[in-house]
Amino acid sequence: MIIYRAKNYQDMSRKAANIISAQIIMKPNCVLGLATGSSPVGTYKQLIEWYKKGDLDFSKVTSVNLDEYKGLSPENDQSYRYFMNHNLFDHVNIDKTHTFVPNGLEKDSKKACDSYNEIIRKQGGIDLQLLGLGHNGHIGFNEPGAAFEKETHCVDLTESTIEANKRFFASEEDVPRQAYTMGIKNIMQAKKILVVVSGEDKAAILKEVLYGAITPEVPASILQLHNDVTIVADEAALSNS
Ligand code: GLP
Repeated sequence: MIIYRAKNYQDMSRKAANIISAQIIMKPNCVLGLATGSSPVGTYKQLIEWYKKGDLDFSKVTSVNLDEYKGLSPENDQSYRYFMNHNLFDHVNIDKTHTFVPNGLEKDSKKACDSYNEIIRKQGGIDLQLLGLGHNGHIGFNEPGAAFEKETHCVDLTESTIEANKRFFASEEDVPRQAYTMGIKNIMQAKKILVVVSGEDKAAILKEVLYGAITPEVPASILQLHNDVTIVADEAALSNS
């Protein structure tokens, strides 16, 4: 595991974007596993800037996102499809038909999850998976207690996640209670993993993830067992480590 200590959020974003750029340059037709949340927004901004400068070409890139709220349409401004379009896809030359997000409108959870696993398999797996870290150690929406061997599945969001994500919705009642998420197994099968972590509020959980016991109670702790993980965290997030 490589840990980069960034000065602040901006520095973290730049370092993470450098790693993603390198991946795209080395393998133009790579499969990127992408994430939502506030942590990767700066990374996407930086990638857009480099694309606009002519330094990056997304035309052959495929992307698969980690998760989506169950019940939200792509047009809903809180859906992760909307987030990705808005924060990255609309601003670069990626072919939108090569960008995948679980189908939040599919009511049949098994169908939604099986077809997403099939999409990931068809692309030949993920070259680089970008991850943020939830305050309770979740990755994607794999909440504490999630079985390590699961592929894409439907999850009930925990109170702490609903609480953390309610800031984006008009009210807490509007936050969906369920989501489709890639499982830990999908994530661990990625060839490389890049985790971005920022802020003092993540310091305690980051320490557990990096140095604590490997346990489903801290889903991201499983990353200790992956052979190619890069953590880019700012000083505040690393202040306990
Ligand atoms: C959400 C997402 C995760 C993300 C996490 C942290 O619950 N499903 O993929 O990593 O929140 O978000 P943030 O980066 O805003 O702290």
